[in-house]
Amino acid sequence: MRSSALLAMLSSLAAAESDDLTLKRAFAGRFELGVALPTAPLREEENKLAFTQFGALTAENCMKPGPLQPTEGRFAFEAADRLVALALDHGLQVHGHTLVWHQQCPDWFFVQDGQPATPERVRERLRAHIRTVVQRYAGKVKTWDVVNEALSDGKEYLRPTPWLAALGEDYLAEAFHAAHEADPTAELFYNDYNIELPEKREKALRLIRELRRRGAPVHGIGIQGHWQLDHIPFAEIEKSLIAFHAEGLKIMITELDFDVVPRRQSGAATDVREEGQDLYPNGLPPELLERQAQQYARLFALFDQHHDKIHRVTFWGLHDGRTWLNGWPYKRTNHPLFWDRQLQAKPALAAVLAVAGQGL
Ligand code: G3I
Repeated sequence: MRSSALLAMLSSLAAAESDDLTLKRAFAGRFELGVALPTAPLREEENKLAFTQFGALTAENCMKPGPLQPTEGRFAFEAADRLVALALDHGLQVHGHTLVWHQQCPDWFFVQDGQPATPERVRERLRAHIRTVVQRYAGKVKTWDVVNEALSDGKEYLRPTPWLAALGEDYLAEAFHAAHEADPTAELFYNDYNIELPEKREKALRLIRELRRRGAPVHGIGIQGHWQLDHIPFAEIEKSLIAFHAEGLKIMITELDFDVVPRRQSGAATDVREEGQDLYPNGLPPELLERQAQQYARLFALFDQHHDKIHRVTFWGLHDGRTWLNGWPYKRTNHPLFWDRQLQAKPALAAVLAVAGQGL
């Protein structure tokens, strides 16, 4: 079929979308669909789109250490409370992101009277942060990214973070123990990018086994899924789904998006910037829209084939106007998601709904 005809068919399918054709309904019984929402309140039409299409939400930023506890003992829960209440009011699950990370984590955790804090003090602060946050949302936030991106992208095993410097590898098990003590019903995840790739997959398996050897309750793993159009590692993704499932882990795809503006680096290390061209300021050319549709469809066919291993697939943003990829690794006009800036469905939606139909 000529690409223009295929595109026309997919667009008309998407345009014909109704409540019956939502993502969450299409894959019901196989895996849940989630979306990351920003701190600032959404417009009414955005909320409608989010609550119609998705059955779960992740706070993109407001539940991270810095936004929640900017200074020691002073918590800022307003934004998180609002998002959690909004989700529960609309029957959505909430995934907590994230208790321990090296980014958006204030320096005060590691300083005492102008000097590096003692390990005991850092451990106390780690546990107090986790206890306060997880207890507040116990029974409401049922799954947590306890630790985010602790593995190194380099030759070493663990990323050299202030947490590792202060507490050594113990901080990882400490975090999971603290979260479990605060809410024994919560399911606790380790979350990272590029763990679909062989080297980091092995590091992730080593981390999970090490945590379990220390008696830490690790229930699941988050494969972030910040992939690039035309470079989706389908075969490696499948190997990681199989490997993590074999490890007895619940799997979530936690931050899915397809960058359509070429960038040099893979992954999502937001502290690394690049220079580049804003190639598609006025929209994505039809042939890229079609390739994006076909590659998302292939990915969801793979997810559907392994739906017994996947608990949830969460998109990292609701539409192209609200993606972090408009600002990283340099400022550009990106088009990574299923809806454009005018909330119009792109061909990828129809292509993925068609996959769901085939899977029935
Ligand atoms: O809220 C402040 C605002 O008050 C201030 O005026 C503005 C300018 O400095 O910054 C705003 O905070 C920004 C925040 O997003 C909210 O927009 C931070 O500077 C900015 O760094 C932060 O970026 C977030 C990034 O994590 C932080 O590293 C992105 O939105 C978010 O999409 C991204 O998400 C991460 C996941 O948490 C972990 N996996 C990788 C993923 C992509 O980096």
